[in-house]
Amino acid sequence: MAAEVTRGGMLSNSCAACHGTDGKSPGAIPSINGKSAEYISQAMHDFRDGKRSATVMGRHASGYSDEDIELIADYFSSRP
Ligand code: HEC
Repeated sequence: MAAEVTRGGMLSNSCAACHGTDGKSPGAIPSINGKSAEYISQAMHDFRDGKRSATVMGRHASGYSDEDIELIADYFSSRP
């Protein structure tokens, strides 16, 4: 089998459309690679629970379970 595709990596693909490949944003949207897993996880929970205002992230974060968020946070925090 080729390179292992992790669940965190797959979930993270849908973030890459806006935040860039591996979270390195090419434009105005903030980069999320290399931020701590705690930071990303907290931000996702706050967006999901409506505690942090957002244009699109509130809607986007609502599709993920707590477990998904941990996997995604681990994935992006480990990107250089
Ligand atoms: C439709 C485009 C879009 C998608 C898809 C998207 N984001 Fe975002 N993200 C944004 C924008 C725009 C912001 C700035 C806050 C806002 O306006 O919603 C943001 C902000 C963030 C922040 C806060 C960054 C900071 O510096 O505080 C995090 C963390 C984040 N997104 C993570 C994710 C993750 C993880 C995914 C995939 C599950 C994702 N985003 C998918 C557009 C997107």
